[in-house]
Amino acid sequence: MQQVGHSDVDINLALPKTPVMAMLDRRLMTQALTNLVKNALESIEARQQKSEKDGFRGAIDVILKSNSKRIRLKVIDNGIGLPQEKRSRLFEPYMTTRDKGTGLGLAIVKKIVEEHSGTVLLNDTPYKKKQGSGAMVTIDLPPQESKSQDAEVGKKKDRQAKKPDQPVAV
Ligand SMILES: Nc1ncnc2c1ncn2[C@@H]1O[C@H](COP(=O)(O)OP(=O)(O)OP(=O)(O)O)[C@@H](O)[C@H]1O
Ligand SMILES: [Mg+2]
Repeated sequence: MQQVGHSDVDINLALPKTPVMAMLDRRLMTQALTNLVKNALESIEARQQKSEKDGFRGAIDVILKSNSKRIRLKVIDNGIGLPQEKRSRLFEPYMTTRDKGTGLGLAIVKKIVEEHSGTVLLNDTPYKKKQGSGAMVTIDLPPQESKSQDAEVGKKKDRQAKKPDQPVAV
């Protein structure tokens, strides 16, 4: 993450002390996270262009937490914020407010998360008062299942994402 190479944006990664294990398709989840960080960077870039000579500094927080009920990943930025209109449609393919956007980024994220039996939500940043604007994406995934349960899920859903045999550290 730190290697994204934007020296004017702070990317903070907050991980639990003990590693979080999850059955997931690492390639697909990496793709989802990449799309979210790209959106966050673009939103920060838009805010930087719109204003501000007042020392605004872009920041992205990637926060991973887990308990017995779920694994929760949040990506929070301090960019321009989600558009007021059409919010409920931002996950639709080809839905974009950006000149050079294809509008596929969030549609792909949603598809990948749902293939892992998870949910994804878009909200304003919880730090809005402090930082003015920004967005928060929350992904919830089910906790690690035992191997036998997972095999059952795999049987029921033939379009289930291909998962590794062993849990991988997130
Ligand atoms: N972090 C964010 N901050 C503000 N708006 C966002 C953020 N993420 C997504 N959006 C809004 O949701 C729209 C759809 O996002 P999505 O990633 O699907 O497409 P895109 O970023 O426009 O294009 P692409 O991902 O193909 O480059 C964006 O055009 C933007 O309006
Ligand atoms: Mg995008």
